[in-house]
Amino acid sequence: MSMTEKLARLAEKRRQSELGGGEARMAAQRERGKLTARERIDLLLDEGSFVELDRFVTHRSRDFGLDGKQFLGDGVVTGYGTIHGRLIYVFSQDFTVLGGSLSETHAEKIVKLQDLALKNGAPLIGLNDSGGARIQEGVVSLGGYADIFLRNTLASGVIPQISVILGPCAGGAVYSPAITDFVYMVRGTSYMFVTGPNVVKTVTHEDIDMEGLGGADVHASRSGVAHFAHDSEPESLAAVREMMAYLPQNNTEVPPAGSSADPHDRCDESLLEVVPDNPNKPYDMRDVVRAVVDDGDFFEVHADFAANILVGFAHLGQHAVGIVANQPAVLAGVLDIDSSDKGARFVRFCDAFNIPLVVLEDVPGFLPGVAQEHGGIIRHGAKLLYAFAEATVPKVTLITRKAYGGAYDVMNSKHIRGDLNLAWPSAEIAVMGPKGAVEILFRKEIAASDDPQAATDARIEEYRETLAHPYIAAARGFVDDVIDPRETRPRLISALDMLRNKRDENPVRKHGNIPL
Ligand code: HXC
Repeated sequence: MSMTEKLARLAEKRRQSELGGGEARMAAQRERGKLTARERIDLLLDEGSFVELDRFVTHRSRDFGLDGKQFLGDGVVTGYGTIHGRLIYVFSQDFTVLGGSLSETHAEKIVKLQDLALKNGAPLIGLNDSGGARIQEGVVSLGGYADIFLRNTLASGVIPQISVILGPCAGGAVYSPAITDFVYMVRGTSYMFVTGPNVVKTVTHEDIDMEGLGGADVHASRSGVAHFAHDSEPESLAAVREMMAYLPQNNTEVPPAGSSADPHDRCDESLLEVVPDNPNKPYDMRDVVRAVVDDGDFFEVHADFAANILVGFAHLGQHAVGIVANQPAVLAGVLDIDSSDKGARFVRFCDAFNIPLVVLEDVPGFLPGVAQEHGGIIRHGAKLLYAFAEATVPKVTLITRKAYGGAYDVMNSKHIRGDLNLAWPSAEIAVMGPKGAVEILFRKEIAASDDPQAATDARIEEYRETLAHPYIAAARGFVDDVIDPRETRPRLISALDMLRNKRDENPVRKHGNIPL
């Protein structure tokens, strides 16, 4: 065979490998509002940057009708490319090939990519669209999943791992995305559940469809399994690209600097007006975040889950930072089970990947109630405390208003190694709010008074004057300075500049025992 003929044969094989399960199945995929595995990669990566691996791999099994049903690539497209010019590994399951089901060889392709990503220190993005374990391959397929789960676990905290769910993801298959750092879903076309609607109906007699059981909105707002829900695949993939601008390649690198020209010394008059005069009135902490960060760009994570805490990425004076902020506009910014989990997970991601933490604090305390106590608020609240306490990245806190009780300690206080802790003059730092304190300390006096309301109000005013302000904390050095709110941006940037070379270490140990 001449080289020309050999090249023609190669070209034909390459063409075949790009056909997936064939034109008809591709068309069916598009009819469902889904892109093909390769179209998704093209949208995700920088144009023309994708280099494919293992395109000629086929499955080995001959059982249960698999003989003669071989497809080049075996239902998953794998390889590497770039996002914003930086190396990324990606796999994209192809539902048109045997439902994107995971065979021994399909798993081997993903495992090869995981090993490459770990060895070369670059993020791995998985585009999931699969009917799960290839039924014909039985335990060999289950073993393939376990091989993937192991590598997800070993890579955790070493390289960023991102899962985008773009079709079915059911049964044990959910546990690979579940171990990764961020899960993206698309409304109407993706779902995740351990057991589907039919099994649920049989076991618990509950009637529910796939979207209601495990669709994007359910996981992004109720279970917290997904961090992002979008209306379309292109939006979802664009959001992955956007997030990558804040992440380092691996745990030995610092995150990429932003490129904004937003002046570092920019003061913002609007910050004088954000906190209402009435301490019980809510305000939107996003207004503070946007007024402070570069160009007002806040890439919020987990926006629809536990909305009483905000987490997300931004640049501040071109430093990539992770923002953790109480949200007074939702449940007064109280800490509860879900917000503690959400905050702790984000803090640990940032700490693992050298992303400085900026904490904006306005927290009245932990949420009271039987459901919270019985649900384990002690165990869950401890996660957030533990996560902040163990974090060794630069940690800056700004108290805008309330910092009451145990929540004061938890929200990156000086005592748990907050590096620079600032407060606005509106800060109220004390064991509890004025009303609760006065009712405990002056119960008898108020009961004996001719005008209990007036007596209460007088004591509340006295409490505010003497205890619920930032100057006792400042006198102790528990806050490093009380600042003019307008100067928040320059002061936070200055703190991040000052902490740029921070070195801190935890005691040597196998690993801690975060209260799970
Ligand atoms: C082999 C599969 C398959 C699978 C789908 N196909 N799932 N082949 N193993 N797991 C094949 C179908 O036979 C069909 O082939 C093609 O893919 C498309 O599937 P359809 O059923 O026609 O598509 P659709 O109607 O869209 O339904 C999609 C689906 C359904 C809901 C995913 O296929 C399904 O329920 N599949 C089984 C899901 C499942 O129970 N998987 C195991 C989960 S447990 P043809 O040739 O007709 O086009 C699991 C354990 C993981 O994954 C292990 C972790 C420890």
